[in-house]
Amino acid sequence: NTKAFIFDLDGVIVDTAKYHYLAWLKIANELGIEFTLEHNELLKGVSRVRSLDIILELGKVEASQEDKNKWLFEKNESYLSYLVDMDDSEILPGVLPILKYLKEQNQLIALGSASKNARPILEKTGTLDYFNAIVDGNDVSNAKPDPEVFLIAAKLLGTTPEDSIVFEDSVAGVQAANIGGMTSVGIGEESTLNEAKYIFKDFTHIDKNFIDELIKK
Ligand code: G6P
Ligand code: MG
Repeated sequence: NTKAFIFDLDGVIVDTAKYHYLAWLKIANELGIEFTLEHNELLKGVSRVRSLDIILELGKVEASQEDKNKWLFEKNESYLSYLVDMDDSEILPGVLPILKYLKEQNQLIALGSASKNARPILEKTGTLDYFNAIVDGNDVSNAKPDPEVFLIAAKLLGTTPEDSIVFEDSVAGVQAANIGGMTSVGIGEESTLNEAKYIFKDFTHIDKNFIDELIKK
């Protein structure tokens, strides 16, 4: 049996969700908009452009396209500054053993991320070679919860949505997987990701038996 295992990037493979938050917090502070960790859950999995709009909506701030472009640029510059020294130490616990196991079992692996910074992050962390296909923010026009990113990934791998499993840390991403007809596996808190078919705190809680079951289905 061959299944498609599609991984989100930020907050699933690498611990970059905290850097996205810090970079957005800086912008929100500049604009005098309160931006809590709870607000941040709304931004996870969401494109850069949509994220800024959500923050502006939170603060009831209206802005010109010129200002928005400036803030989008600033946000990405400060986000990138956190990635300069990035290496494999930023890979989240338990991820590499699962990627290795999937390879040993001859399963197909794809990335399905909203980020336009995905490739350099995979390169810096030495994880690029695990992926049979990469779909990122440069390839899609509809942001999660639209399933486009995962549907393209499944198509590139030559599998159907029914034979695809998605690992996601964001509410929008779990919804995208569900809407796309895929098996959603939430990585994070049960209270946040309760729409996922399965939920694990992190990859150290996912064992080989669970993967074997998914492959068999
Ligand atoms: C991921 C993250 C979001 C981020 C988005 C765009 O989905 O969860 O927090 O805003 O990618 O990332 P980018 O690197 O293109 O700004
Ligand atoms: Mg994520």
